[in-house]
Amino acid sequence: MGEAVTDRGARVIVVDEPDGQGGYLLSRLRRVGELCAQNPGYRWPDQYENGASPDIHRRTTGPEITEQTGPDLGAVYVPVSTGGTLAGVSAHLREHRPDVAAVAVDVRGSLAVAGDAGRRLIPRIGSSRPSAFLQGPHSYDRAVHVDDIEAIAVCRILAEDVGVVLGGSSGCAVRALLTDLENDRTDGRLPVCLAADGGRKYRDTLYSDDWATEQGIRREIEIAAAVNQLRSEGLFFDRKHQEH
Ligand SMILES: Cc1ncc(COP(=O)(O)O)c(C=O)c1O
Repeated sequence: MGEAVTDRGARVIVVDEPDGQGGYLLSRLRRVGELCAQNPGYRWPDQYENGASPDIHRRTTGPEITEQTGPDLGAVYVPVSTGGTLAGVSAHLREHRPDVAAVAVDVRGSLAVAGDAGRRLIPRIGSSRPSAFLQGPHSYDRAVHVDDIEAIAVCRILAEDVGVVLGGSSGCAVRALLTDLENDRTDGRLPVCLAADGGRKYRDTLYSDDWATEQGIRREIEIAAAVNQLRSEGLFFDRKHQEH
């Protein structure tokens, strides 16, 4: 654990103690709990349990997706960490477009929507505990667990082919959709992948071979092998690359 003070005087407490569930979340939540108990004036918005999160996505993100896509929409692939985005989008679909599938995209090693705990490479997707927002039987239609190495490979291929540089959780959503397409799990209608952020800020991580090597001697090799495998299976996002 470390501490730093920003230019503007904010005190940043860094909790980097692994939580034994493939991440740091449980250690961080414990520290937040201690700080709040010791300092009654502190306020914690709590993105993991605060109903304002699904609510804003029900009122804004969900309608934005259905308005922009129209009647052809068949499924929405949403990366999950706290589950607030998916819970809100799904609630909107349930009410206004029950014909559209809300697909939970989680990463292998995450417990956000069931699964087994394990080491995870991609930030901002997955969780060390089940989502508090996705407990009800109708909170989404189905879940897909994505391999993080494959998702990073999809990010790199997409960037190479068409210059679209996605964040890692968005790469997971695209990977989940590709798997469904391979397995004929789509109904032919328009699928949408929710991209929560772009990839520029991951240039030195998800898009870097040096970073991959730092994650373990085999990681860089595994990512390169996944890119080759996907290419050999015919994954190209533009015609120019396909012809080569
Ligand atoms: C880039 C990115 N992807 C996915 C998510 C997951 O969203 P949620 O926590 O609502 O499940 C987040 C959450 O902050 C995010 O920042």
